[in-house]
Amino acid sequence: MKEIKGFSKLSKKAKLEWLIDAYFDGDQSILPRLQSYWHIESDIQKLHDEFIENTITNYFLPLGIAPNFKINDSVYCIPMAIEESSVVAAAAKSAAFWKDRGGFKANVISSTKVGHVHFTWSGDGNQLESWFNQHSDIFIEGTNQLTANMRSRGGGIKKISILNKTHLESDYYQLEAEFDTVDAMGANFINSCLEEFSKILELGLQSTPEQGKLDIIMCILSNYTPNCIVKVEVSCPVEELNVDPTITPHEFAEKFIRAINIANIEPYRATTHNKGIMNGIDAVVLATGNDFRAVEACAHTYASRSGQYKSLTNAEVSANGIFRFWIELPIAVGTVGGLTQLHPLVKFCHRLLNNPNAEDLMMIIASAGLAQNFGAIRSLVTTGIQKGHMKMHLLNILNQLEATEQEKKAIQTHFENKVVTHQAVVDLFCEIRNVNNIEKLNK
Ligand code: MEV
Repeated sequence: MKEIKGFSKLSKKAKLEWLIDAYFDGDQSILPRLQSYWHIESDIQKLHDEFIENTITNYFLPLGIAPNFKINDSVYCIPMAIEESSVVAAAAKSAAFWKDRGGFKANVISSTKVGHVHFTWSGDGNQLESWFNQHSDIFIEGTNQLTANMRSRGGGIKKISILNKTHLESDYYQLEAEFDTVDAMGANFINSCLEEFSKILELGLQSTPEQGKLDIIMCILSNYTPNCIVKVEVSCPVEELNVDPTITPHEFAEKFIRAINIANIEPYRATTHNKGIMNGIDAVVLATGNDFRAVEACAHTYASRSGQYKSLTNAEVSANGIFRFWIELPIAVGTVGGLTQLHPLVKFCHRLLNNPNAEDLMMIIASAGLAQNFGAIRSLVTTGIQKGHMKMHLLNILNQLEATEQEKKAIQTHFENKVVTHQAVVDLFCEIRNVNNIEKLNK
């Protein structure tokens, strides 16, 4: 494997030439393949090139639509960007099921974001705190210019405090700040304020060097936002849980609740359970141009807040025979700034969702997560997951084999009432092509 200095300085063409030479033995078929994903006939490619560094082409994911999501008083077609088969189908199926049973009832409980100046202070903690309490105004005043725009939109700094963490790490303190970033995800805003706070802290404590030494370690927002919480619930009388002819509504409710209890007591199951929820959440976060890594990291920290990693969803049958199923989690997303005004497909997705504000989007995303989890548990406790999954996966296998449309149709018909396995598909495919094995096929 070859190394290079100054790769970022090369033109796109030169980058590609070098890559093909160094990593693909000069295989000239690579270039047209990568170029076929360029968006050359408009200025969209330039836009994409400038989103990140060293762009060589675009990476496509399918964008699917899950219709019929009744959330509070609106019905949405939810856009989902995801590569995994069955996810969009499961979301759509759950949405249709719950639309006829009152839909998703969603509300945002809180929307506070948080960030920290992490620093060490060698002096007395009480003296530091009393200095801060006397001077907290200078932090607000010193960031007035930075916060003006956000304040004009109804947001800004909500609270700042000093936290003593010396019981965890010697001399370690935090300046913790809470923010309302309204419809922006707000990462740049928060980080800029924090960096300004650190300068104000340094300047302020300079005048008291005899009392201690200050060392700023770092200034950064936290992607853990336990006070930026959305809750979504579906409910119906148990009798209306007629999901599958093989199971009574009461048995289904019992098994469903048992499945969630298992996720609450067993981290092996909780991880997969929450992964399924994130199938729905990430796909909408991605389609709406938000940072899915931040949302993922936050969700998993929240799922561990009790000290054990648990389910993000809950279910119960209440005393009056009503089945309730809900999700409550932090989701920090924005509907202004970032990619939202830049990426043409992100703009399309926002328009499809009727240009939601950040709180609307939190409710839409959480509903997709809840729907996904309902779909997964419904399959798991009834037919099993593989039946639906492998049918969808069949198409992926056939595409991998480069089957023709005619071959696809014949093979899909064959597997209509049969178990799909990779080997069975390959065998039938070879039979249709009249070859003995797949190696021969590839030649
Ligand atoms: C697959 O991507 C997700 C599921 O495994 C989720 C679950 O098991 O709950 C089906």
